Amino acid sequence: FDAVDVIRAKRDDQVLSPAQIDWVIDAYTRGVVADEQMSALAMAVYLNGMTDEEISAWTHAMIASGETMDFSGLDRPTADKHSTGGVGDKITLPLAPLVAVFGVAVPQLSGRGLGHTGGTLDKLEAIPGWRADLSNDEMLAMLRDPGAVICAAGAGLAPADKKLYALRDITSTVEAIPLIASSIMSKKIAEGTGSLVLDVKVGSGAFMKDHASAKRLAETMVTLGRNAGVRTSALLTDMSTPLGMTVGNALEVREAVEVLAGGGPADVVDLTVALAEEMLRLAGTNDVDVRAALTDGRAMDVWKTMIERQGGDPDADLPRAQETSEVVAESDGVLMELDALAVGMASWRLGAGRAKKEDPVQAGAGIEIHVKPGEAVRKGQPILTLHTDEPARFARAEESLAGAIVVEPAAEGADAAAASIV
Ligand code: URA
Repeated sequence: FDAVDVIRAKRDDQVLSPAQIDWVIDAYTRGVVADEQMSALAMAVYLNGMTDEEISAWTHAMIASGETMDFSGLDRPTADKHSTGGVGDKITLPLAPLVAVFGVAVPQLSGRGLGHTGGTLDKLEAIPGWRADLSNDEMLAMLRDPGAVICAAGAGLAPADKKLYALRDITSTVEAIPLIASSIMSKKIAEGTGSLVLDVKVGSGAFMKDHASAKRLAETMVTLGRNAGVRTSALLTDMSTPLGMTVGNALEVREAVEVLAGGGPADVVDLTVALAEEMLRLAGTNDVDVRAALTDGRAMDVWKTMIERQGGDPDADLPRAQETSEVVAESDGVLMELDALAVGMASWRLGAGRAKKEDPVQAGAGIEIHVKPGEAVRKGQPILTLHTDEPARFARAEESLAGAIVVEPAAEGADAAAASIV
């Protein structure tokens, strides 16, 4: 095979054969196909799409580029959750220990954030002492006891995807359904989970801005999972406004701990419970009272053990940013819109996220949200508190929030807020 022929075929909207796909993914992983050639192919896929057969072959070629894990030796079923990425999405933190309470092991291999969406590992690294990198043996030991682990995916898992994702990120070829579906599912199938629940985000803060494309992405991923023998299902959930009341690493950990203590914002609790119930259902555990494990301390006990086993101190004070600044309502009325993408960008600019892979993140940076869409506000009332260690960052964060906060007079507000629920 020749890379130029493969690129030309996809450029001309032809269907690639499984053999062509196997070859190009393997050759790219080995450095035989160059980054610029893979960039051109990714753009051709972005523009012309792929058939279901091509997506399946592409996914399996990415799985075959590295090692696969096997949890079949565990004495209990496994279930994992994957979110397609959102703003304020700290659900993995309370969810993994919550599911483990019911005897289903959770191998939650996670990533770091890039761009405006946060990464689970960045959040947990806000906890003093906590480390993300575990050996496969350490990971297996945690799946036995306490029954859940959140850690970095080892370099050996789907290395083709690691290379390709970094390339897509800098060539504007991320938001293509065949590429997102194969990227996520290659990692999850290689990870060896028995069941998988996908939380596919819809709205301004998500890759998929509209319901129809989110549904297509969900169906594509569910089909890939089921065909590979993983019990897979998907929930479509709203990402037009941030989840919960915090965005940013330590701020989100604080909120996750509130949920584990039986409190926390209703939207975070409800989504955590819905995803836990779906993971347990797929793993064959029905009719359990999931909410009770949040209020009676069982999920918190698992959480504390998980954090301690990875070197963290679950009772330590979390880092706080040195400076804060408030964004207030400019008029009386109802908050109609608090745009997820804008809040994510602002949090990123405050230092919670990174622009390049190697950049450090500020543990304390981010945004506290005081008012959610649908709620009344008075002129001058704080809507957001911005947190950062570097006050020079406030101006750029405020720029990203321009137009993102919409307050309208009360009467109209009520109707439109109801209509905006997905
Ligand atoms: N997350 C991934 O792992 N891959 C994508 O392509 C998009 C989101």
